[in-house]
Amino acid sequence: MATEHEIKEKLQSVAYPGFTKSIMDFGFVKNIEINGNDVNIYLEITSTAPEVEESLKTDITKELKTIGLDNVQVVVKKPEAPKQQSNTMSGKNITPQVDNFVMVSSGKGGVGKSTTSVNIAVALAMQGKKVGLLDADIYGPNIPRMVGVDGQAPKIEGNKVIPFTAYGVEVMSMGSLVEEGQALMWRGAMVMKAITQLLQDIAWSKLDVLVIDMPPGTGDAQLTLAQSVPVAAGINVTTPQQVALDDSRRSLEMFEKLHIPVAGIVENMSGFICPNCETESDIFGSGTCEDLAKEHNTKVLANIPIEPSIRVGGDEGKPVVYFHPDSASGKRYLRAAELLWENIQESNKKGSIGNESIQPTMNGASSACSTQSKPNSGGCGI
Ligand SMILES: Nc1ncnc2c1ncn2[C@@H]1O[C@H](COP(=O)(O)OP(=O)(O)O)[C@@H](O)[C@H]1O
Ligand SMILES: [Mg+2]
Repeated sequence: MATEHEIKEKLQSVAYPGFTKSIMDFGFVKNIEINGNDVNIYLEITSTAPEVEESLKTDITKELKTIGLDNVQVVVKKPEAPKQQSNTMSGKNITPQVDNFVMVSSGKGGVGKSTTSVNIAVALAMQGKKVGLLDADIYGPNIPRMVGVDGQAPKIEGNKVIPFTAYGVEVMSMGSLVEEGQALMWRGAMVMKAITQLLQDIAWSKLDVLVIDMPPGTGDAQLTLAQSVPVAAGINVTTPQQVALDDSRRSLEMFEKLHIPVAGIVENMSGFICPNCETESDIFGSGTCEDLAKEHNTKVLANIPIEPSIRVGGDEGKPVVYFHPDSASGKRYLRAAELLWENIQESNKKGSIGNESIQPTMNGASSACSTQSKPNSGGCGI
């Protein structure tokens, strides 16, 4: 008779279709029941694709046969089909109470991605939307400080974490949930689990929009987010120097590969407004994002100047758009939020929001988009 330990060891070599990680590493094996030679394996997976379930059943049965188990039942629990939405999003959505997800990305850190996420989220709330702000930058979560909730412990109700509220926006951050520095080494499955937990285990209300501050670059976090929820809009944040634009291009290409409609680019630190005389002068350059936007068939949502009040607002948890809505940057954030909202409405109307085509599925299938995909294999290859 096989022991639970032996069975788990065998399941360690069953990879989740489309990935190199095993179903054990993903934490998909929820229970194992052993009655002599009869074994029931209970799985909870993240894909709704029938071929994933089929493939897992075949692989598990085959693997357990090698230790003499001939009567194996595999019971697979899949995510619930998304509830009917007020818009036309399609595909998988593990946070169905949110109508629209916005992914804020940048090619690299330090360009103002978090500052932009905060000010756009607060601007949307000032414009009457129900807004959430998720700090998914697991390697450098600094949204709590930027909205003044740093050091506060979140409340837990049942098995859900209650988001903080700041400036009319529901906020939660990886930084409020794990100790500082803990996530620095996370890769692969750990990142995927963290992102899905932030979406599923936070008690987000019914929201018009959830603004998500991503880690810089293109990687596991971006792919997992896009596979877990249909992202309505991507915003790229960059500074105007040529070197930053090169990184930015990769970020925009990632949106395209993940089939995320691009709402536009925020050109940050674009010129400097002198606090004494209010003259605007270029430091890093400005206006360089126009060509990049055209190249990617999108627009510049805002040129945000370097303003001391933005930095102070970030450090003190007082977003500039809330405290100085009439300043140059305040007005530009408000306008960017309007443009973003218009873009989301258009994409909803066109029915261009969905993530069916990037679900992890069988290797080589035309819709595969996995970390394993090779060039020309049909995967998205990020
Ligand atoms: N337009 C701006 N003017 C002045 N300071 C800014 C501006 N944008 C960002 N900052 C400051 O630059 C630093 C980096 O910004 P942050 O939003 O944390 O970048 P990222 O999230 O891309 O790493 C922060 O201290 C922030 O307050
Ligand atoms: Mg940041």
